[in-house]
Amino acid sequence: MQLKFIKLTFFILSSAILQLCFSTKAQEIYDQQVEEILARMTLDEKIGQLVQIVGVDGYREELIRQGKTGSILFGNDGPEEVNKIQRIAVEESRLGIPLIFATDVIHGCQTIFPVPLAEASSWNPELVKTASDIAAFEAASMGIRWTFAPMVDIAHDPRWGRIVEGFGEDPYLGGNFAAAKVKGFQGENGLDKTQIAATSKHYIAYGGAEGGRDYNSVDISERTLREVYLPPFHSAVQNNVASIMSSFNDLNGIPSSANYFTLTEILRNEWNWDGVVVSDWNSVGELVYHGFAKNKEEAAFLGFNAGVTIDMVGDTIDGNVYLPNLKNLVERGRIPIEKIDEAVRYVLQMKFKLGLFENPYVDVKFFEQNDLKKSYKDSIALQLANESIVLLKNENNLLPLNKNIKSVALIGPLADNQEDLLASWAAFGDEENVVTVLQGLKNILGDDTDINFTKGCNINDEDTSGYEEAIEISKVSDVVILVVGEEREMSGEAASKTNLDIPAVQENLIKRIYATEKPVIVVLMNGRPLTINWISENIPAVVEAWFLGDQTGNAISEVLFGDYNPSGKLPVTFPRSTGQIPIYYYQKSTGRPFEEEDKFTSKYLDSPNTPLYPFGFGLSYTSFSYENIEVDKAIINKNDSLNVSVDVTNIGKFAGNEVVQLYIQDVVASVTRPVKQLKGFEKINLQPGATRTVSFKITTDMLSFLDRDLKSRVEPGRFKVMIGGNSEDLISTSFEVIE
Ligand code: BGC
Repeated sequence: MQLKFIKLTFFILSSAILQLCFSTKAQEIYDQQVEEILARMTLDEKIGQLVQIVGVDGYREELIRQGKTGSILFGNDGPEEVNKIQRIAVEESRLGIPLIFATDVIHGCQTIFPVPLAEASSWNPELVKTASDIAAFEAASMGIRWTFAPMVDIAHDPRWGRIVEGFGEDPYLGGNFAAAKVKGFQGENGLDKTQIAATSKHYIAYGGAEGGRDYNSVDISERTLREVYLPPFHSAVQNNVASIMSSFNDLNGIPSSANYFTLTEILRNEWNWDGVVVSDWNSVGELVYHGFAKNKEEAAFLGFNAGVTIDMVGDTIDGNVYLPNLKNLVERGRIPIEKIDEAVRYVLQMKFKLGLFENPYVDVKFFEQNDLKKSYKDSIALQLANESIVLLKNENNLLPLNKNIKSVALIGPLADNQEDLLASWAAFGDEENVVTVLQGLKNILGDDTDINFTKGCNINDEDTSGYEEAIEISKVSDVVILVVGEEREMSGEAASKTNLDIPAVQENLIKRIYATEKPVIVVLMNGRPLTINWISENIPAVVEAWFLGDQTGNAISEVLFGDYNPSGKLPVTFPRSTGQIPIYYYQKSTGRPFEEEDKFTSKYLDSPNTPLYPFGFGLSYTSFSYENIEVDKAIINKNDSLNVSVDVTNIGKFAGNEVVQLYIQDVVASVTRPVKQLKGFEKINLQPGATRTVSFKITTDMLSFLDRDLKSRVEPGRFKVMIGGNSEDLISTSFEVIE
């Protein structure tokens, strides 16, 4: 009877919510409902909402029945299975609180899009938003309503394998993509049943792991924390991200999953954010291994008190640290019940926002009737893959190739490889849907061109028995396309490396093919910047394709044969050697800025300072000139703004897209500032011969920095403004800020 009453109340109130959408009124109704439920919950049931289990078996079904878990990771084998498990929570548990099903939907759910580092190379957040929206729809249709994405960790270190999961080295660019992904997953007007809750992760500074070794410690100043690592998280928060994941690493001696300063003072007090903090996989339990908690109970105490709302799966069936320990901690008075209530509120709010109380089950019919067309999803995947490709070198305009070419040799272990192209975190992607480069070339070339294909070698062993055939087919073909790089497992979690060269067996194959003196194009597939000095020096055309997902082969073929003019720009610096790492464009000038002739300036004896390819770099089949950079005011007041404009002209023969990039330097400040920082960008399309005047509004928040007391302010003085097509080739002007 009581249960029915509650369910009825849910129904009436949540219908009202639908109409009110996300108004303050709706928030008030949520609050009221949350309070009603809270008032009925036992301590066990409250703690249950703070526990996340992985998968479902008999033991876990019982936990659900007892209200001892609130969410499930990887428990979704399709909508029927989800509905079956949900029914246990809704119909068999005392209060009928629905579960949330979570899965890592990172770059697509069933339709697989380019990996995030590639997405960032598109410099097209709008398109990435659309792709994330599709991913959300597919996930929701399976019953997944919570994803652990976007990963917004800034990374300066390509040794760190997880660099593939993020948007590269720049906080501003990262912030733009963080916002786009959150908006794509969650929608912008409240979550309907086709959307999913997003999680920005891994909070915080996980990408700063010392030596690029995954899970390693991070020791950085609060300034670096605030200037580099926090901004993309802040952007996610400003876009109402539903949850944030606390990371594995320790930060300046305090593990991130027990860090009151970052989890509570910054997230709750400074940013006023009221979402759910979910731990990373057992990262609260791992406080014991950090040597920070003496046992799991203490770990639960420290993690919870610092601000971790939900404990993600432990290492054993009952390894959750919250499930066995929070109750004791409350009963012994170490954790006040009010703090538990506060955490439960965040979880229930999230469930209300997802509409789970009203629609706990997957509406299979709705998704069948409203399914997105495959052709639409594939076209977005193809467009994003096209835009993610970065042309690194194109000597004597070897590319684009002519479709009338008689024969092509296609060689390399990644040329006809579906599995690796799905890359890290492919959710429910199916390798059968991946168009390989071999298939893509067939699609674009038809029967008139001979495509001579052989693998040549594997990705990473010592077997060279395929070399001879590769050399033979190269000799009889007009051009050679070599598709080389990394296995999917070579980047992503727990995939740190000290050597960033292409595996030797592939590099030697490239050298042997090069020796045939045929025109050679290298297409790279990899999840991190690689040290490709020899290739870059000797091979006339080099294409960075990262991992592009389902449409890989079509996108690459369209680029190679000129149906798509490449426009991708690197979101991360390519070093010449691992010895240069960390290397990123927004470094400081130092007191001894580099000078060629002067030994006692900041430099290496055995390597240039410059990277192999700088941040923001990427070629096109056409060229763009930048001229007439102008500010509309030479002097502005501290609270004023100004415009800077530049004329960009397509001076080549092809229509093309260009990413116009704006960088600013505060020339003299009370704290040393980077030599440049990205502050704006715009992707434009220009026909041959056409000129566009691109302007950016420069507002004072773009000029502010954290002073010695870490307070944001604008200081009077000169500011240099630089605009160009990458972080090195820039034209500049300046203006003055006065008090
Ligand atoms: C990863 C997270 C991921 C989680 C759940 C962890 O190992 O660090 O990024 O979201 O597993 O799959």
